This record gives sequence, C-alpha cells and structure tokens, in this order.
Amino acid sequence: MTANLPDKTRLCSLADIPEGGSKGFNYDGRKLFAVKQRGKIYLYQNSCPHLGIPLEWVEDQFLDSSGCMIQCANHGALFVIETGKCVAGPCNGRALIPLNFHIDDGNIVIST
Ligand code: FES
Repeated sequence: MTANLPDKTRLCSLADIPEGGSKGFNYDGRKLFAVKQRGKIYLYQNSCPHLGIPLEWVEDQFLDSSGCMIQCANHGALFVIETGKCVAGPCNGRALIPLNFHIDDGNIVIST
C-alpha cells in the first residue's frame, strides 16, 4: 500500500501527467521526466546523451509538436518514446537512460 511507503519513493500520481503529455521532476537530487502515451508511462533521466544536459526549455515539455517523439530542445534530437532511442540529431543511435518504476494504487513509484 502506498500509505506505507516512504514518501521518497513516490514520484507522483498517474493523474498528474496528462494523456499524450510529459512532466519533469526533481527527484532525490536527480532530474527525471515521464511521458504518458495511450495510458502507459515511460520514465527517463532528464539528460540528453548529446551533452548531458536537460532536454527541455519549457517546463514539462519534452515532446515534439506532433506529440509522437521525445525531443531535446537544445539541438532537436528526437527519441522514440517507448525505448528512449535517439533516431535523429547529434546523438543518433544513443539512448536516454530509463528508470525502473511500478504503479501502486494510481501512483508512480520509483523502484530502488
Ligand atoms: S543537448 Fe540534446 S541534442 Fe544537443
């Protein structure tokens, strides 16, 4: 039950991330972001493989204009939402670093 978990492991409620949208987090000294697509959650470190800097320029905006790809605002690298793999841009062939998590009672919980 979520109520018994230390607060530290709970990232947010599923409802905090809009369908087809994304959200950034500062979690335990790390920058992360989550994407929700067709009800599924994808969670990555907010660090572009190109320069190791955060991807977004605008808060909580990690997707391209179509909403179908993760996009780094710095130099336009595009990443597959489901895998984090970069398919266009200066870090083509590299990938975002995923984080392990599970869903517990409607909450995203980081797996430690
Ligand atoms: S820092 Fe992300 S594409 Fe350059």
